[in-house]
Amino acid sequence: MPAHPHNATMIAVCSAKGGVGRTVLTANLSIALSLTGAKACVIDGCFQFGDIQMALDLRPLFSIKDVIEQIETIDAESLLNYLNRHDSGLRILTAPTRPEYADLVTLEALDKIIDLLRSKFNYLIVDTMYGLQEQTLFFIERADKILIVTDLEMATLKNTKMMLDVLTSLGLHHKVKIVVNRSTMQSVITSRDIAQILEGESIMYIPNDFEIVSKSINIGLPFIIKSRRSEISKTIISLAEQLSSANAVNIDKPPKSSPRLSFFQKLKGQKERT
Ligand SMILES: Nc1ncnc2c1ncn2[C@@H]1O[C@H](COP(=O)(O)OP(=O)(O)OP(=O)(O)O)[C@@H](O)[C@H]1O
Ligand SMILES: [Mg+2]
Repeated sequence: MPAHPHNATMIAVCSAKGGVGRTVLTANLSIALSLTGAKACVIDGCFQFGDIQMALDLRPLFSIKDVIEQIETIDAESLLNYLNRHDSGLRILTAPTRPEYADLVTLEALDKIIDLLRSKFNYLIVDTMYGLQEQTLFFIERADKILIVTDLEMATLKNTKMMLDVLTSLGLHHKVKIVVNRSTMQSVITSRDIAQILEGESIMYIPNDFEIVSKSINIGLPFIIKSRRSEISKTIISLAEQLSSANAVNIDKPPKSSPRLSFFQKLKGQKERT
């Protein structure tokens, strides 16, 4: 096999607040992509309290901590041995088994891991921590597409707007798509209001379906497999289609991230330029 048969499209699944549905979206979207025959790999980027294995009913044999321990010598081929396998064909690099190991995941190690995985897969999907801490920002910068998941809560929307503002300041706005999860839930804010609040943004709506989603999490079988014909599955499939067609025309990948600066240095630099 050639050394670099693929150059994976990287999708960062982010949010400005916790508990909005990043993991549910990551699990189902990744399976939707892998069911098309594409090679897809998930990185659980919630390094302290990662839980993608629950959504996929995995009993991980390895985690990113094992990769970090071999990081100096590891190559793309041997990295594959540390990925957990899902029946759908999806591969998963799970988070460390204990929260205190999260600090072992340096940006240098992540950089190498992303490069190696990109050479082996068509899609690399990252379930990031919520907010904009250093490791998440690193994934966001390296990603080709940034999905910002929100719901209809006022506090989430306020933080989402702020996150969008920051990403715009960093020159990353062109990669963003907003995913309004649970868009049909009872709320003072309706999904119609969302179009006004997030005017000008590329928005995708996922319906609220407590029964299907909670059942699928409890048994660890993603609804995209179990309830393929449900409305919620259709929206995820449509998102997967949009991402894969965008990928087909995305010939010019953005360059790798600029020299490592702190979050505030980056923001300051961008603001001084404008
Ligand atoms: N479309 C939906 N309809 C109904 N319930 C949903 C939907 N999406 C997510 N949920 C529910 O919301 C809860 C949180 O989902 P999830 O764990 O994916 O969020 P998260 O953003 O990954 O949270 P965390 O910040 O803790 O990692 C879950 O209990 C799930 O059942
Ligand atoms: Mg999660």
